[in-house]
Amino acid sequence: MQPHQPAAQKIALPGVKNVVAVASGKGGVGKSTVATNLALALHMLGRRVGLLDADIYGPSIPIMMNIKETWEPNGREWPLEQYGLKLMSMGFWVKPEVAMIWRGPMVAKYLTVFLTQIPWGELDYLVIDLPPGTGDAQLTLTQTAPLSGAVIVTTPQDVSLIDARKGLEMFRQVKVPVLGIVENMSYFATPDGKRHYLFGHAGGQKLAENASVPFLGEIPIDPKVAECGDRGDPIVHKYPDSEVAKAYLKLATTVATEVAKGARPEDLPGLAL
Ligand SMILES: Nc1ncnc2c1ncn2[C@@H]1O[C@H](COP(=O)(O)OP(=O)(O)OP(=O)(O)O)[C@@H](O)[C@H]1O
Ligand SMILES: [Mg+2]
Repeated sequence: MQPHQPAAQKIALPGVKNVVAVASGKGGVGKSTVATNLALALHMLGRRVGLLDADIYGPSIPIMMNIKETWEPNGREWPLEQYGLKLMSMGFWVKPEVAMIWRGPMVAKYLTVFLTQIPWGELDYLVIDLPPGTGDAQLTLTQTAPLSGAVIVTTPQDVSLIDARKGLEMFRQVKVPVLGIVENMSYFATPDGKRHYLFGHAGGQKLAENASVPFLGEIPIDPKVAECGDRGDPIVHKYPDSEVAKAYLKLATTVATEVAKGARPEDLPGLAL
């Protein structure tokens, strides 16, 4: 198998050119924030993008993308749309307390339904926000979805880096290409343009080097990121000229380049950035 090629015998998503999973080993490192802003940045680069929230037990996309609860699977046009992205989340579909009592097979079933039965249409990228760890959602997705690759999110701290390495190994074991590592909350930028590396410097980069995967870049820490997420207007959309948004646009370009390296030749026209 060539690197970055989706494995055979997976379900077909005919209109979707590239499926990119955003994952981590550890919780709370910023996966959902990265997935959402990466998806928006790819859209700003002129791509057709979908965002699938695979976090069944703790979906974040409804709040981050300001979609009020719907919970009427039969009364809506799926996927929903917001800020130019096509969206699907368990948080739109069932009440959180219902999802909380589901067991693995139910999670797997609904994720498969989301992938195969939601009319995603023509997409250049379907970005998938994974829950933390290496549980049912990750296994279902890695076994069934034709993933182009995974973006692993870490923060600079050792605890996060160790778990990122575990997440990375999981994708390797199931033969999903790792597109690279992005370090979130890397540094704080002061108005004088200085970068303050609060939690140590270059941990994500070293992890990438040790694991022989690309380093995709650093996203600064900025209270506005959290504020925008909570208010449902992600920073790339709300403040496209901010330093953080620029870091996301650079990340989108790098991710697109890594994906294109493994793309099928017929998918390449129009994709190269
Ligand atoms: N670069 C950043 N600067 C400041 N705050 C950030 C940044 N990235 C993420 N955050 C904040 O950190 C918190 C955790 O982020 P997020 O929910 O994206 O993490 P997660 O990895 O998806 O968590 P979980 O494992 O629970 O799914 C959120 O409040 C988010 O707004
Ligand atoms: Mg999350």
